[in-house]
Amino acid sequence: MYKEIILDYQDLSPYLNKETLTTHLDLYRNNLNKLNSLLNQANYDYTYSMKDLISHIDIFNLNIRGEILYYLSSILNHNLYFYNISNNKNIVPVGTIAKDINKYFNSYDNFKKEFKAKALNLKGSGYTFLVMDDKGVLKIINTSNEDSPYYYGMEPIISLDLWEHARFLQYKNNKEAYIDSFFQIIDFKKINQYYEKLLQK
Ligand SMILES: [Fe+2]
Repeated sequence: MYKEIILDYQDLSPYLNKETLTTHLDLYRNNLNKLNSLLNQANYDYTYSMKDLISHIDIFNLNIRGEILYYLSSILNHNLYFYNISNNKNIVPVGTIAKDINKYFNSYDNFKKEFKAKALNLKGSGYTFLVMDDKGVLKIINTSNEDSPYYYGMEPIISLDLWEHARFLQYKNNKEAYIDSFFQIIDFKKINQYYEKLLQK
């Protein structure tokens, strides 16, 4: 069985109120249960990490492959989103990620501006990601539904869930306020740890 992410917070008010966070976590846990149950039905032995299973999705029969891929990507996207945020007030980039954000986006302010514009431009449900492409270049991309940057050979570093389920209870249709709040709970200390580990691979 794949396990859920361990969180170092229970409440991110006022930026994400308890009802919004709890509802989102319930949906995430349901999707994880659904994924594990599909994998058990397919007699999968959990050989691969979740990320590696994406590139080995053809081990499953065609009739269940799409559904497994959807839930698998959903869990990976959510794991990163919930990892990226905290109450720790590390909202300014540090370390290698700070250096590389400046390298590829000129400044953190400019990065935030570009990330927000990309997120506001997303049509329908999906995500905005900071990714590293196969040449090591940092980029901001959108994906639809639960599609993962891994599909395109890119490593996600920051994940922002823009589905209505992530924000509607608190923010209604004010997507911009939700995005601004994300930058108040983003945790660059954790993101930098994740990024530095990625670069060592
Ligand atoms: Fe979500």
